[in-house]
Amino acid sequence: MLINQKILNEEFVLRNAEVQDTAQMEYVQSQCYPTLSGGEILKKHHFENHIKLFQQGQFVIEDQKKNIIATTSTFLCHFPTHDHTFLEATDNLWLTKSHEKDGDWMYGIDMGVLPLYRGKGLSKELYKARQEMCKMLEIKGQITVGMTIGYGKFRNQLSIEEYCEKLKNDELTDPTVSAQRKAGFVWIRPIFNYLTDPEAGNASILMYYPLSDKPKPNNFQHEYTHIKSN
Ligand SMILES: CC(C)(COP(=O)(O)OP(=O)(O)OC[C@H]1O[C@@H](n2cnc3c(N)ncnc32)[C@H](O)[C@@H]1OP(=O)(O)O)[C@@H](O)C(=O)NCCC(=O)NCCS
Repeated sequence: MLINQKILNEEFVLRNAEVQDTAQMEYVQSQCYPTLSGGEILKKHHFENHIKLFQQGQFVIEDQKKNIIATTSTFLCHFPTHDHTFLEATDNLWLTKSHEKDGDWMYGIDMGVLPLYRGKGLSKELYKARQEMCKMLEIKGQITVGMTIGYGKFRNQLSIEEYCEKLKNDELTDPTVSAQRKAGFVWIRPIFNYLTDPEAGNASILMYYPLSDKPKPNNFQHEYTHIKSN
């Protein structure tokens, strides 16, 4: 049960990642996170482990010359009950201890589109494919923690807390968080010191994208109430 489909007028192929893609996945990652600390960047051997653990949750897009131009990595878990850092959530990027085979949410840990290919709707296609996979796996939907990468431009005027508040109220847009909200993600709350990237003010926004609007299970109520009260 893997995904392999032509997208955007058949210009690109979106499919689950294979081990032979991992060197190019490392390259895409290096181009997409230029200000993230080195210890938080995914490398070839991490991608290999992710594919071994949960190939259905690892995706790439290739162009007509079969070059990988976009990637995204995920794992399965139960809805997080407390705040965590990126390295805690990802078992120091390996996912070995993070991935719960019986998890009912798909947690996205990265999404990268090479700069030349941005603005074409490729990240939307990847989020859509992740949602299709959630349906196939009969789980509840996706979680992501989106980097507030646009903060750098405002760091002399706003604290990271103020930036997040303005973003939540749509008084600002952010290259990453706005793209994720447009793809369907719903704001839950910021997590400060989630990772180490001065451009992002070290913060990220916890968001979710449920498959259904049905009442959430009990362990979700806290987050759901929080969203409602915003
Ligand atoms: C974030 C990222 C994945 C978006 O990829 P993309 O393929 O260019 O995004 P899309 O073309 O699918 O755009 C989706 C929506 O977001 C909007 N968007 C994209 N870039 C944006 C920006 N810089 N500012 C505001 N909105 C933006 C698009 O307009 C589009 O909305 P629309 O449907 O109303 O037109 C890409 O910029 C990237 O790789 N960034 C660096 C890595 C990163 O931050 N990843 C996320 C980590 S959590």
